[in-house]
Amino acid sequence: MASVKEMDTYAKLWMKEAGTRLRASFKTKLNIEMKTNPNDLVTNMDKGIEKFFCEKIGEVFPEHRIFGEEGMGNDIKDLKGTVWIIDPIDGTLNFIHQQRNFAISLGVYVDGIGKIGMVYDVFSDELYHVIKGQGAFLNDQRLPSLEEASVSKAIISINASWVTENRRIDPSLLAPLVRDARGTRSYGSAALELAFVAAGRIDAYITMRLMPWDFAGGVLLVEEVGGEVSNIKGDKLDFLKGDSLFVSKPGLHNEVFEKYLSGNSSH
Ligand code: IPD
Ligand code: CA
Ligand code: CA
Ligand code: CA
Repeated sequence: MASVKEMDTYAKLWMKEAGTRLRASFKTKLNIEMKTNPNDLVTNMDKGIEKFFCEKIGEVFPEHRIFGEEGMGNDIKDLKGTVWIIDPIDGTLNFIHQQRNFAISLGVYVDGIGKIGMVYDVFSDELYHVIKGQGAFLNDQRLPSLEEASVSKAIISINASWVTENRRIDPSLLAPLVRDARGTRSYGSAALELAFVAAGRIDAYITMRLMPWDFAGGVLLVEEVGGEVSNIKGDKLDFLKGDSLFVSKPGLHNEVFEKYLSGNSSH
């Protein structure tokens, strides 16, 4: 069986190579297609990077399975064995409009347990990575454990759509949180927002709907530095169908549940 160290070494190498390809693509004309609606886009690069990972993993670890956004991996219905959960470009809209604020996200799960997490901020050349139990790093810098925080001193990442009329949560629950926080941000890449929480650049990230490839890598980073991870009901995340997500520094999680989310009945 492949060792975690071996998988980690290859994963880093492939991340860097994929990043180089993405930076090179800034000079080329993208082929952009619509997926489910006019704001849900995919480019030739999303597909190309997922294909790249599938080929590399297939060559070196042929018995492993792949769960990727663009569907080039396997049809995943359980997390038995080793599964690489990959988002080739998280923040495709940013990639298209800004050529920054997007990331490659990767999580390696063995029998459902997260072993390796990586989020690569390609524009900034910042690789956030963790081997479970061995510390989280930003490039070569070890990330310190997160300290307790309170809402009044917190910068919270949240998309404005969750405090306006939407299908997933009563906006009157989150509006007071936005009002009470020191500040709010929205970066448009869930993987980056998770990495920012792990690195202490923001204090929390809350969102109503993500897929497993958006968070599989990033949640391992947050957990490793002592952050708290759950869906917005306080339950464990669903790594097969996707879920809502609330990650934060310790202390903040409890405060938000008690003061703001206790009246939440949405799914
Ligand atoms: C999206 C980004 C975005 C989040 C969306 C995701 P994509 O991923 O993570 O921040 O709000 O829900 O779908 O499609 O750019 O990989
Ligand atoms: Ca997408
Ligand atoms: Ca994504
Ligand atoms: Ca994506």
